[in-house]
Amino acid sequence: MQISVIGCGYLGAVHAAGLAAMGHDVIGVDQDVQKIELLARSIPSFHEPGLAELLRDGVRGSLRFTTDIAAVADCRVHFVCVGTPQRAGGEYAADLSFVDAALEGLLPYLLPDAVVVGKSTVPVGTAERLGRRLHEARPGPVIAWNPEFLREGHAVDDTLHPDRIVVGLPEGDREEAVACLREVYAAPLAAGVPFLVTDLATAELVKVAANSFLATKISFINAMAELCEVTGADVTQLADAIGYDARIGRRFLDAGLGFGGGCLPKDIRAFMARAGELGIDQALTFLREVDSINKRRRVRMVDLARAECGGSVVGRRIAVLGAAFKPHSDDVRDSPALNVAAQLQLQGAEVVVTDPCAVDNARDRWPDLKYAHSPEEAVADAELVMVLTEWPEYVALDPVAMGDLVRHRRILDGRNALDPARWRGAGWTYRALGRARA
Ligand code: UGA
Repeated sequence: MQISVIGCGYLGAVHAAGLAAMGHDVIGVDQDVQKIELLARSIPSFHEPGLAELLRDGVRGSLRFTTDIAAVADCRVHFVCVGTPQRAGGEYAADLSFVDAALEGLLPYLLPDAVVVGKSTVPVGTAERLGRRLHEARPGPVIAWNPEFLREGHAVDDTLHPDRIVVGLPEGDREEAVACLREVYAAPLAAGVPFLVTDLATAELVKVAANSFLATKISFINAMAELCEVTGADVTQLADAIGYDARIGRRFLDAGLGFGGGCLPKDIRAFMARAGELGIDQALTFLREVDSINKRRRVRMVDLARAECGGSVVGRRIAVLGAAFKPHSDDVRDSPALNVAAQLQLQGAEVVVTDPCAVDNARDRWPDLKYAHSPEEAVADAELVMVLTEWPEYVALDPVAMGDLVRHRRILDGRNALDPARWRGAGWTYRALGRARA
């Protein structure tokens, strides 16, 4: 099929490459000339394992990138993958201007049987509004909503092997659009991936409900960590024990610094804002607490660092391992690790941050922090080492070798990712969120 992808940021670039890998003719469109030039050379503008290879295979075959929206004229299906950031000025609601502009841009080029498929995360009700606008301008084409569930760091796999495909469509005759989207996703459907057809509002809600549930799960275990800290219990053992109950499950029960990134924090806030607009804010009041628990973890981490440094961090050299909001990503948006590093620096510490991929992005955001190219360089002469993003290379560090580089063998594990016995055995003071001091 001939398919366009409007917006070639994180979501769009991965989706375009994924559709090409599924055998379609794909044209990716973005206004950003530099981004398009790089993608045409199979170079993503962000770190995502496996994406460069997927782009390379696509660009050799049926994948093209352009800044010219007119190039989509022969496509039957158009995926809208533009961003919906938190509105500027401290508002929680989502900024929908890019989504609106994408639809307006497409209108002159739509075939009579075209399907415009939204993938961006939007407040419930947006798709119906866009559908009305579409119908008013062009009576033939239809709107569909097909939320995306990919995780940064695993985006290629999540796109090629999703755990479900959800398609929301307006009331009425849906058969043609369903058949068309089944053809788009023929490859994963042949592999047995569940395909759910819903109304537009349900499809929009599935996305934010899933992210809210994940955020709630993380904040639940972090609230338990707060209790563990005052009772001397161990949150990791607690998570293991409750996680064996299949109804609960162990995944997303890793206590620590909590969630960050470009999705979970923004999505739960936009969801609360939308509930307020709909007059049912009470239904989501608990998400405010989810957000608060999450933010408290960062403060607690700074408190722990201060305590380990004897009550003040002024002039103390602190090594921070990890800047990305999670491993296998160079994304530092709302990164808990960088947030803690910046707080410590503002309190007078000499903070040296390192990360395998995210140093450049971190430096753009926090130019005042010091940066190192390796953990060895970062910990040199440090009085405290903090592991704030659980990159596998940090989890595998040798406590004996590291011990020779630092001034004091003191380590704070912000992600409960290290083996306390190994570090303590090498003479380190090990502390973590939600675990006894030992
Ligand atoms: C999240 C969702 O997991 C995806 O399903 C969704 O498609 C995506 O948002 C999106 O809306 O586009 P992502 O932001 O890539 O994906 O990251 P997650 O893997 O969900 O991790 C989010 C944060 O939670 C990270 O900071 C991570 O360190 C933290 N986390 C995760 C925990 O603190 N504990 C856990 O047990 C798991």
